[in-house]
Amino acid sequence: MKVTVVGAGAVGATCADNIARKQLCSELVLVDIKEGVAEGKAMDLMQTAQIEGFDTKVIGSTNDYAKTAGTDVAVITSGIPRKPGMTREELIGINAGIVKGVAENILKFSPDAIIIVISNPMDTMTYLALQSTGLPKHRIIGMGGMLDSARFRYYLSQALGCSPNDVQASVIGGHGDTTMIPLTRLATYMGMPVSNFLDEETLKKVAADTMVGGATLTGLLGTSAWYAPGAAGAFLVESILRDEKRIVPCCVSLNGEYGQNDICLGVPVIIGRNGWEKIVDYKLNEEEQALFAKSAEAVRNMNSVLSTMAV
Ligand code: 2OP
Repeated sequence: MKVTVVGAGAVGATCADNIARKQLCSELVLVDIKEGVAEGKAMDLMQTAQIEGFDTKVIGSTNDYAKTAGTDVAVITSGIPRKPGMTREELIGINAGIVKGVAENILKFSPDAIIIVISNPMDTMTYLALQSTGLPKHRIIGMGGMLDSARFRYYLSQALGCSPNDVQASVIGGHGDTTMIPLTRLATYMGMPVSNFLDEETLKKVAADTMVGGATLTGLLGTSAWYAPGAAGAFLVESILRDEKRIVPCCVSLNGEYGQNDICLGVPVIIGRNGWEKIVDYKLNEEEQALFAKSAEAVRNMNSVLSTMAV
Protein backbone atom coordinates (compact mmCIF):
# COMPACT_ATOMS: atom_id res chain seq x y z
CA MET A 1 0.00 0.00 0.00
CA LYS A 2 1.14 3.51 -0.77
CA VAL A 3 -0.08 6.78 0.71
CA THR A 4 0.75 10.33 -0.33
CA VAL A 5 0.29 13.35 1.90
CA VAL A 6 0.46 16.64 0.04
CA GLY A 7 1.42 19.62 2.16
CA ALA A 8 4.18 19.07 4.71
CA GLY A 9 2.97 21.78 7.06
CA ALA A 10 1.84 21.00 10.59
CA VAL A 11 -1.34 19.13 9.58
CA GLY A 12 0.33 17.15 6.78
CA ALA A 13 3.36 16.24 8.86
CA THR A 14 1.19 15.17 11.81
CA CYS A 15 -0.96 13.08 9.49
CA ALA A 16 2.18 11.45 8.04
CA ASP A 17 3.54 10.83 11.54
CA ASN A 18 0.32 9.02 12.54
CA ILE A 19 0.28 6.97 9.33
CA ALA A 20 3.91 5.90 9.75
CA ARG A 21 3.58 5.04 13.45
CA LYS A 22 0.54 2.89 12.71
CA GLN A 23 2.40 1.37 9.78
CA LEU A 24 -0.62 1.75 7.55
CA CYS A 25 1.37 1.40 4.31
CA SER A 26 4.74 0.23 3.05
CA GLU A 27 5.52 3.57 1.38
CA LEU A 28 4.52 7.07 2.39
CA VAL A 29 5.33 10.10 0.24
CA LEU A 30 5.28 13.58 1.69
CA VAL A 31 5.05 16.35 -0.92
CA ASP A 32 5.51 20.07 -0.46
CA ILE A 33 6.06 23.01 -2.74
CA LYS A 34 8.75 24.53 -0.50
CA GLU A 35 12.20 23.31 -1.46
CA GLY A 36 13.57 20.75 0.99
CA VAL A 37 10.73 20.87 3.55
CA ALA A 38 9.14 17.54 2.59
CA GLU A 39 12.54 15.85 2.29
CA GLY A 40 13.56 17.23 5.69
CA LYS A 41 10.37 16.17 7.46
CA ALA A 42 10.47 12.74 5.78
CA MET A 43 14.05 12.24 6.95
CA ASP A 44 13.17 13.41 10.47
CA LEU A 45 10.24 10.96 10.50
CA MET A 46 12.45 8.13 9.22
CA GLN A 47 14.79 8.81 12.11
CA THR A 48 11.90 7.98 14.47
CA ALA A 49 11.41 4.59 12.74
CA GLN A 50 13.83 2.71 14.95
CA ILE A 51 12.58 4.50 18.08
CA GLU A 52 8.93 3.84 17.28
CA GLY A 53 9.52 0.48 15.64
CA PHE A 54 7.85 1.03 12.29
CA ASP A 55 8.91 -0.08 8.83
CA THR A 56 6.96 2.30 6.63
CA LYS A 57 9.37 3.97 4.20
CA VAL A 58 8.78 7.72 4.27
CA ILE A 59 10.12 9.78 1.38
CA GLY A 60 9.93 13.51 0.73
CA SER A 61 9.43 15.28 -2.57
CA THR A 62 9.59 18.93 -3.56
CA ASN A 63 6.64 18.99 -5.92
CA ASP A 64 7.81 15.96 -7.95
CA TYR A 65 4.63 13.95 -8.31
CA ALA A 66 6.35 11.16 -10.24
CA LYS A 67 7.44 9.92 -6.81
CA THR A 68 3.77 9.53 -5.82
CA ALA A 69 3.01 7.07 -8.67
CA GLY A 70 0.89 4.11 -7.58
CA THR A 71 -0.67 5.89 -4.59
CA ASP A 72 -3.71 4.15 -3.08
CA VAL A 73 -4.82 7.04 -0.88
CA ALA A 74 -3.80 10.71 -1.18
CA VAL A 75 -4.41 13.27 1.55
CA ILE A 76 -4.50 16.92 0.47
CA THR A 77 -3.59 19.36 3.22
CA SER A 78 -2.06 22.03 0.95
CA GLY A 79 -2.94 25.68 1.12
CA ILE A 80 -2.76 28.39 3.74
CA PRO A 81 -4.21 27.90 7.23
CA ARG A 82 -6.37 30.51 8.90
CA LYS A 83 -5.03 33.17 11.26
CA PRO A 84 -6.83 34.38 14.39
CA GLY A 85 -10.04 36.21 13.48
CA MET A 86 -10.21 34.64 10.01
CA THR A 87 -12.94 32.26 8.93
CA ARG A 88 -12.14 29.12 6.98
CA GLU A 89 -14.19 30.59 4.14
CA GLU A 90 -11.78 33.50 3.68
CA LEU A 91 -9.14 31.07 2.41
CA ILE A 92 -11.03 30.14 -0.74
CA GLY A 93 -9.25 32.54 -3.11
CA ILE A 94 -5.80 31.13 -2.49
CA ASN A 95 -6.61 27.52 -1.69
CA ALA A 96 -8.93 26.73 -4.61
CA GLY A 97 -6.18 26.94 -7.24
CA ILE A 98 -3.79 24.97 -5.06
CA VAL A 99 -6.21 22.13 -4.32
CA LYS A 100 -7.29 21.79 -7.95
CA GLY A 101 -3.67 21.61 -9.13
CA VAL A 102 -2.72 19.07 -6.46
CA ALA A 103 -5.67 16.78 -7.27
CA GLU A 104 -4.75 16.86 -10.98
CA ASN A 105 -1.10 16.05 -10.24
CA ILE A 106 -2.01 13.15 -7.98
CA LEU A 107 -4.33 11.59 -10.56
CA LYS A 108 -1.80 12.01 -13.36
CA PHE A 109 0.43 9.45 -11.63
CA SER A 110 -2.18 7.51 -9.61
CA PRO A 111 -5.43 7.39 -11.59
CA ASP A 112 -7.02 4.99 -9.09
CA ALA A 113 -6.24 6.97 -5.95
CA ILE A 114 -8.85 7.77 -3.32
CA ILE A 115 -8.55 11.44 -2.34
CA ILE A 116 -9.06 12.86 1.15
CA VAL A 117 -9.40 16.65 1.27
CA ILE A 118 -8.43 18.53 4.43
CA SER A 119 -7.65 22.00 2.98
CA ASN A 120 -10.10 24.76 3.89
CA PRO A 121 -12.78 25.82 3.26
CA MET A 122 -13.05 22.04 3.28
CA ASP A 123 -16.62 21.57 2.00
CA THR A 124 -15.97 23.81 -0.99
CA MET A 125 -12.53 22.31 -1.65
CA THR A 126 -14.08 18.82 -1.67
CA TYR A 127 -16.76 19.97 -4.12
CA LEU A 128 -14.08 21.59 -6.28
CA ALA A 129 -11.95 18.43 -6.27
CA LEU A 130 -14.97 16.38 -7.32
CA GLN A 131 -16.04 18.77 -10.06
CA SER A 132 -12.60 19.41 -11.48
CA THR A 133 -11.39 15.81 -11.55
CA GLY A 134 -14.66 14.14 -12.53
CA LEU A 135 -13.72 11.21 -10.29
CA PRO A 136 -16.42 8.76 -9.18
CA LYS A 137 -17.98 10.39 -6.11
CA HIS A 138 -17.00 7.55 -3.76
CA ARG A 139 -13.33 8.38 -4.20
CA ILE A 140 -13.47 11.96 -2.87
CA ILE A 141 -13.83 12.40 0.89
CA GLY A 142 -13.67 15.67 2.81
CA MET A 143 -12.29 15.42 6.34
CA GLY A 144 -14.09 17.79 8.66
CA GLY A 145 -16.87 15.90 10.41
CA MET A 146 -14.44 13.41 11.93
CA LEU A 147 -12.47 16.26 13.49
CA ASP A 148 -15.54 18.20 14.59
CA SER A 149 -17.01 15.03 16.11
CA ALA A 150 -13.76 14.38 18.00
CA ARG A 151 -13.97 17.91 19.37
CA PHE A 152 -17.64 17.38 20.28
CA ARG A 153 -16.72 14.18 22.12
CA TYR A 154 -13.92 16.02 23.89
CA TYR A 155 -16.21 18.82 25.13
CA LEU A 156 -18.90 16.31 26.12
CA SER A 157 -16.35 14.24 28.04
CA GLN A 158 -15.15 17.37 29.85
CA ALA A 159 -18.72 18.16 30.90
CA LEU A 160 -19.43 14.55 31.87
CA GLY A 161 -16.09 14.14 33.64
CA CYS A 162 -15.39 10.94 31.71
CA SER A 163 -13.11 9.53 29.02
CA PRO A 164 -13.82 10.76 25.45
CA ASN A 165 -13.67 7.06 24.53
CA ASP A 166 -16.96 6.42 26.33
CA VAL A 167 -18.74 9.17 24.41
CA GLN A 168 -20.35 8.61 21.01
CA ALA A 169 -21.34 11.76 19.15
CA SER A 170 -21.45 13.14 15.63
CA VAL A 171 -21.22 16.51 13.97
CA ILE A 172 -22.76 16.79 10.51
CA GLY A 173 -23.28 19.67 8.05
CA GLY A 174 -20.54 22.06 6.98
CA HIS A 175 -17.09 22.37 8.51
CA GLY A 176 -17.60 26.02 9.41
CA ASP A 177 -18.12 27.85 12.71
CA THR A 178 -21.76 28.54 11.83
CA THR A 179 -22.51 25.63 9.48
CA MET A 180 -21.62 22.59 11.59
CA ILE A 181 -24.37 20.74 13.44
CA PRO A 182 -23.45 18.90 16.65
CA LEU A 183 -26.16 16.23 17.00
CA THR A 184 -26.74 16.47 20.74
CA ARG A 185 -29.95 14.40 20.58
CA LEU A 186 -28.00 11.37 19.31
CA ALA A 187 -24.98 11.74 21.61
CA THR A 188 -24.52 8.99 24.18
CA TYR A 189 -22.40 8.15 27.21
CA MET A 190 -21.90 4.38 26.81
CA GLY A 191 -25.23 4.05 25.05
CA MET A 192 -27.21 6.32 27.37
CA PRO A 193 -28.40 9.70 26.04
CA VAL A 194 -26.14 12.48 27.34
CA SER A 195 -29.29 14.37 28.34
CA ASN A 196 -29.64 11.80 31.16
CA PHE A 197 -26.52 13.34 32.69
CA LEU A 198 -26.27 16.96 31.51
CA ASP A 199 -28.84 19.77 31.65
CA GLU A 200 -29.96 21.68 28.59
CA GLU A 201 -27.85 24.73 29.31
CA THR A 202 -24.66 22.64 29.60
CA LEU A 203 -25.50 20.78 26.40
CA LYS A 204 -26.04 24.06 24.57
CA LYS A 205 -22.66 25.31 25.76
CA VAL A 206 -20.97 22.07 24.67
CA ALA A 207 -22.49 22.42 21.19
CA ALA A 208 -21.49 26.09 20.97
CA ASP A 209 -17.91 25.34 22.11
CA THR A 210 -17.71 22.55 19.54
CA MET A 211 -18.76 24.84 16.71
CA VAL A 212 -15.97 27.30 17.46
CA GLY A 213 -13.54 24.55 18.49
CA GLY A 214 -11.18 25.31 15.59
CA ALA A 215 -11.38 29.08 16.13
CA THR A 216 -10.61 28.67 19.84
CA LEU A 217 -7.41 26.84 18.96
CA THR A 218 -6.51 29.36 16.23
CA GLY A 219 -6.86 32.11 18.85
CA LEU A 220 -4.53 30.27 21.23
CA LEU A 221 -2.00 29.11 18.67
CA GLY A 222 -1.93 31.99 16.19
CA THR A 223 -2.59 29.50 13.39
CA SER A 224 -4.97 26.60 12.94
CA ALA A 225 -4.68 23.34 14.85
CA TRP A 226 -2.78 20.28 13.65
CA TYR A 227 -2.75 17.37 16.11
CA ALA A 228 -6.44 16.46 15.83
CA PRO A 229 -6.78 17.42 12.13
CA GLY A 230 -3.71 15.32 11.25
CA ALA A 231 -4.83 12.37 13.39
CA ALA A 232 -8.33 12.53 11.89
CA GLY A 233 -6.84 12.39 8.38
CA ALA A 234 -4.79 9.33 9.33
CA PHE A 235 -7.90 7.72 10.88
CA LEU A 236 -9.63 7.95 7.49
CA VAL A 237 -6.58 6.51 5.72
CA GLU A 238 -6.63 3.61 8.18
CA SER A 239 -10.37 3.01 7.73
CA ILE A 240 -9.86 2.86 3.96
CA LEU A 241 -6.73 0.73 3.78
CA ARG A 242 -7.94 -1.73 6.42
CA ASP A 243 -11.44 -1.77 4.93
CA GLU A 244 -12.83 -1.15 8.39
CA LYS A 245 -16.36 -0.04 7.46
CA ARG A 246 -16.27 2.59 10.19
CA ILE A 247 -19.17 5.05 10.31
CA VAL A 248 -17.62 8.50 10.19
CA PRO A 249 -19.17 11.90 9.47
CA CYS A 250 -17.44 13.01 6.25
CA CYS A 251 -18.01 15.54 3.53
CA VAL A 252 -19.31 13.67 0.48
CA SER A 253 -21.33 14.32 -2.65
CA LEU A 254 -25.07 14.26 -1.95
CA ASN A 255 -27.58 13.16 -4.56
CA GLY A 256 -30.88 13.50 -2.78
CA GLU A 257 -29.65 12.13 0.57
CA TYR A 258 -30.59 14.38 3.49
CA GLY A 259 -32.67 16.37 0.99
CA GLN A 260 -29.68 17.86 -0.87
CA ASN A 261 -28.23 17.72 -4.37
CA ASP A 262 -25.17 19.09 -6.16
CA ILE A 263 -23.21 19.71 -2.96
CA CYS A 264 -20.57 18.05 -0.79
CA LEU A 265 -21.55 18.19 2.87
CA GLY A 266 -20.91 16.30 6.10
CA VAL A 267 -23.06 13.22 6.69
CA PRO A 268 -22.33 9.87 8.32
CA VAL A 269 -20.78 7.47 5.81
CA ILE A 270 -19.35 3.98 5.90
CA ILE A 271 -15.65 4.12 5.05
CA GLY A 272 -13.94 1.11 3.46
CA ARG A 273 -11.50 0.04 0.78
CA ASN A 274 -13.56 1.74 -1.94
CA GLY A 275 -13.62 5.13 -0.24
CA TRP A 276 -16.95 6.20 1.19
CA GLU A 277 -19.21 3.29 0.47
CA LYS A 278 -22.63 4.24 1.80
CA ILE A 279 -24.41 7.19 3.35
CA VAL A 280 -26.12 6.34 6.63
CA ASP A 281 -29.51 7.91 7.35
CA TYR A 282 -29.63 9.38 10.88
CA LYS A 283 -33.34 10.10 10.46
CA LEU A 284 -33.05 13.72 11.52
CA ASN A 285 -35.97 15.38 13.26
CA GLU A 286 -37.55 18.50 11.78
CA GLU A 287 -35.31 20.91 13.66
CA GLU A 288 -32.11 19.07 12.68
CA GLN A 289 -33.26 18.79 9.07
CA ALA A 290 -33.88 22.56 9.00
CA LEU A 291 -30.39 23.20 10.36
CA PHE A 292 -28.97 20.89 7.71
CA ALA A 293 -30.82 22.77 4.94
CA LYS A 294 -29.50 26.08 6.32
CA SER A 295 -25.96 24.71 6.43
CA ALA A 296 -26.30 23.49 2.83
CA GLU A 297 -27.46 26.93 1.74
CA ALA A 298 -24.38 28.59 3.28
CA VAL A 299 -22.01 26.05 1.73
CA ARG A 300 -23.77 26.36 -1.63
CA ASN A 301 -23.24 30.14 -1.52
CA MET A 302 -19.57 29.55 -0.87
CA ASN A 303 -19.39 27.04 -3.73
CA SER A 304 -20.93 29.57 -6.11
CA VAL A 305 -17.85 31.76 -5.60
CA LEU A 306 -15.87 29.08 -7.46
CA SER A 307 -17.60 29.87 -10.75
CA THR A 308 -16.46 33.50 -10.51
CA MET A 309 -12.85 32.45 -10.06
CA ALA A 310 -10.33 31.45 -12.70
CA VAL A 311 -9.49 28.07 -11.12
C1 2OP B 1 -9.68 22.99 12.12
O1 2OP B 1 -10.87 23.04 12.36
C2 2OP B 1 -7.91 22.93 10.38
O2 2OP B 1 -10.20 23.36 9.84
C3 2OP B 1 -9.32 22.72 10.68
O3 2OP B 1 -8.81 23.04 12.99
